[in-house]
Amino acid sequence: MPDDSLADFVRRLPKAELHLHIEGTLEPELMFALARRNGLSTPYPTVEALRAAYAFSRLQDFLDIYYQGAAVLLTRADFHDLAIAYFRRLAADGGVHAEIFFDPQTHTYRGVPMAEAVEGLLSAMDEAKATLGVTSGLILSFLRHLDEADAFATLEQARPWLSRLTGVGLDSSELGHPPAKFARVLAAARDLGLKVMVHAGEEGPPAYVWEAVDLIAVDRIDHGNRALEDPALVRRLVADGTTLTVCPLSNLKLCVVPDLAAHPLKRMLDLGLAVTVNSDDPAYFGGYLLENYVQTAQALDLTRGEIARLARNSFSGSFLPDADKARWLAAVDAAAGELT
Ligand code: ADE
Ligand code: ZN
Repeated sequence: MPDDSLADFVRRLPKAELHLHIEGTLEPELMFALARRNGLSTPYPTVEALRAAYAFSRLQDFLDIYYQGAAVLLTRADFHDLAIAYFRRLAADGGVHAEIFFDPQTHTYRGVPMAEAVEGLLSAMDEAKATLGVTSGLILSFLRHLDEADAFATLEQARPWLSRLTGVGLDSSELGHPPAKFARVLAAARDLGLKVMVHAGEEGPPAYVWEAVDLIAVDRIDHGNRALEDPALVRRLVADGTTLTVCPLSNLKLCVVPDLAAHPLKRMLDLGLAVTVNSDDPAYFGGYLLENYVQTAQALDLTRGEIARLARNSFSGSFLPDADKARWLAAVDAAAGELT
């Protein structure tokens, strides 16, 4: 049974979302509307048939459908409409800040100019701030199944918008594509003043997380679940205070965990890791930020104090200026204090 008081508690806690692929917020209804607007066909005849295809047994099953779905995004209006719909949902969940990934190569490969994606997303980010009070950052994520030269070319194409980018990331098919493959382009991005993060330890082994830490010197790790297999790695992540952006419903849908009760989030908290809760690709995984908090809290029997800690970690691990972090941390404490 849904626990309304738990949902109310979570909704009233200010929260930041740090691991969200904007292309992964493309709801089937919007996918069909954009296909119509752009005169494109869809790979499935109906919304219901499309949703029925969202049964994944590994990351690659999902990625194949996710890249196919993104093909309806052509114009800056499309990217704007996609992003503003996400920000509205985030605000309804009590989210106040988001650092969102976009995958430019998914679009430039189809002949969509980078400007269409970036300008559309930036306009939605500006609108979200003005109309919802939601702040945000934009993270350019390289596709790791492509090669290093392609990533360098993508970074070059992004030059006109460098001042509006928060950082760079690394996503797509993890196994066989370790962070080391992109060490030079990620270092080049850092030299341009960008934050650096990589997906590691979602399906890939602890060795990929070690590379992220030692070789890339990441500012954050996306997922990081498999770090738990290596106690020395856990000690290192705790000592460094590295934020892990964990995505419970994503892990469930992609069979990284067999059920939410087996999710390592509570263990991660107990070990002293700086974990956060995020939705990853909510249109595909069955829940936005609030659902991720609520379902995980229920499955793992998290205390209100632990839930508030997750919200605190979301601001500590963000790339917000220190003054904003301090303000939001105080707001989390105030909200948690009033609600418990
Ligand atoms: N791209 C979008 N979602 C992703 C995920 N969970 N892992 C890797 N690449 C992704
Ligand atoms: Zn992700």
